[in-house]
Amino acid sequence: MASERSGAQVLVASNRGPVSYALGADGALSAKRGGGGLVSGLSAIGPGTAALWVCAALGDGDREAVRRSGGALDPGDTGGQRVRMLDIPAEVYAAAYNGVANSVLWFVHHMLYRTPMEPIFDAEFRAQWSAYEHYNTAFADALADAAAPSAAVLVQDYHLALVPGMLRDRRPDLRIAHFSHTPWAPPEYFAMLPDDIQRKLAVGILGADRANFLTERWARAFMGCARQALGTDCDAYWPRDGAPYVVSTPPAHKPRRTGIGVHGLGADAGFLRERAHRPDVDERMATLREQIGGTDRRTIVRVDRTELSKNIVRGLLAYRRLLADRPEWHERVVHIAFAYPSRQDLAVYREYTAQVGRLAEEINAEYGTVDWQPVELHVKDDFARSLAAYRLADVALVNPIRDGMNLVAKEIPVVSDDGCALVLSREAGAYAELGQDALVVNPYDIAATADALHTALSMDHGERAERTARLAAAATALPPDRWFLDQLEALKGLEGA
Ligand code: G6P
Repeated sequence: MASERSGAQVLVASNRGPVSYALGADGALSAKRGGGGLVSGLSAIGPGTAALWVCAALGDGDREAVRRSGGALDPGDTGGQRVRMLDIPAEVYAAAYNGVANSVLWFVHHMLYRTPMEPIFDAEFRAQWSAYEHYNTAFADALADAAAPSAAVLVQDYHLALVPGMLRDRRPDLRIAHFSHTPWAPPEYFAMLPDDIQRKLAVGILGADRANFLTERWARAFMGCARQALGTDCDAYWPRDGAPYVVSTPPAHKPRRTGIGVHGLGADAGFLRERAHRPDVDERMATLREQIGGTDRRTIVRVDRTELSKNIVRGLLAYRRLLADRPEWHERVVHIAFAYPSRQDLAVYREYTAQVGRLAEEINAEYGTVDWQPVELHVKDDFARSLAAYRLADVALVNPIRDGMNLVAKEIPVVSDDGCALVLSREAGAYAELGQDALVVNPYDIAATADALHTALSMDHGERAERTARLAAAATALPPDRWFLDQLEALKGLEGA
C-alpha cells in the first residue's frame, strides 16, 4: 500500500479488472486472467511507468482475494500489472451493477426497452441509484488516494459515469479521461431517464478533460444528450477543423471545457494471428470439421456473449428463413453459433438464453437429417474454439441491435484462413469502418438478413478473399496499444493548459 500512496502516474478504472478469482472447496484461490483491449493497451505503456488498475471485486473469490491481500493483488496473478481491487459491499455492488448499470444504463444506450411498461423509475430504482452513487464514490476515493500529482486517470464505461466529476472535486490536479465502450443513446431516448439522473450522468462524464467514444455517431449523441440535460449550462461545438468539445457549467463550478475524442478500437492482429495457430486451436478445428460433416459444407459463424443487444434470436430466425426459402442450402450449410453465458443474475438474460437454445433445437428438429445438423450451438466459453471457428468461417454473422464497436467483426477477417464474407449490422460501431466491404443489414429485418446470408454464402472465392483483405486492413488500423496511447497522449497534451 505504501508504494500506492507514493502515487501512480497512470491509472485505469473499470468495473471488471484484468483478473478474477475462484474460491475452491479447499479454500485455495485460483486466478483467471482476462484479455481484451484494455489489457493489451495498458501493457503498451511499458514497465517504466508506475501504472495502477483499479477495479471491483465481482464475486466471493475476488472478495476473498481482497481480504487476503489487502486489495493490492499479487502481480504474479495479474500478468505483472499493479491492480487494486475494491471490496464494495455485495448488496451495494449488486444494486449498482445489476440494477442500474446493466438493467438501465445498458438498456438505454442499446435502446433495448420493448414494452410500454418499461422502464419504471420507482422507489426501488431510487435505492439502486443510491447504490450506484456509493459504488462510483468508492472508485473516486480509491483513485484520489492512489494517484500521483497530475497523474492521468482513464475511467472506463457506463458503470463509472459519475467518477470523473467526483474525482475532479477531490483532485483538481488530475488529468481525467472517460471512455464509453457502448453506443450512446440519442437524446430522445436518453430523455426517458429522470431529469436529475440525466444531469448527474452528463455532469459526471463532463468532469473529465476528455470524454472518449468509439465512433463519431456515439460522440455526437453524447453531446446532444449533455446539451439536453444541462440546457443553457452546456454548449457543444463540432468545429470544421479541430477537435470537438463541450463547454459546461456544472453546479457550483466555473465553466469547464471537455474535449471529445473518437478512438475506434481495432483488433490486435499480432496477438490473434499467433494465438490462432497454436495446437489447441488446430485440435478444435478438427473437432468442428467433424461436427460440420460433409466436405463441401459452408459455415456461418457467430460468436457472442448471450447478450440481448447481440440479436442472436433474430439471427437464428434469419437462418431458419434462409433454409425455408432456399432449399438448395439444405445439407450444404451449418450455422455455428457460440453464445457464451452473460449477466445470468438478470432474469431477462436467463430467459433470452433459454430462447436461443429452444430456437436452435427447433431448427434442428425441423430441418436436420441423419447426417446434417443445421445449427451447432455451443454455450461453454472456449477462446481456442472461437478462434478455430474464426479461421474456418465462410460467413460471419454480426447482427447486433446496437453495439459500441463489435470486435468479432474485426477479428474474424484478421484470422480467416480462406476468406470470410461478413454480414454486418449497420447499428454496430464497426460499420463505420467496415461498412464498405461487408454485406450490411438492418438488424431488425429478418428477410433482409436471410437474403444477405444467401448472398454471402454464394460469394465467389476471389471476391470474398479481396473483401477479407480490405476488412482485415481496416480492422487493424488502430490496434489496442495505439488506441490506449492515443488517449493517454491526448491527456498529456493538456499539461499546463
Ligand atoms: C461490454 C462492456 C464492458 C463489459 C462487457 C462484459 O463490452 O462495455 O464494460 O465488461 O460488456 O459485460 P460484463 O457485465 O460481463 O462485464
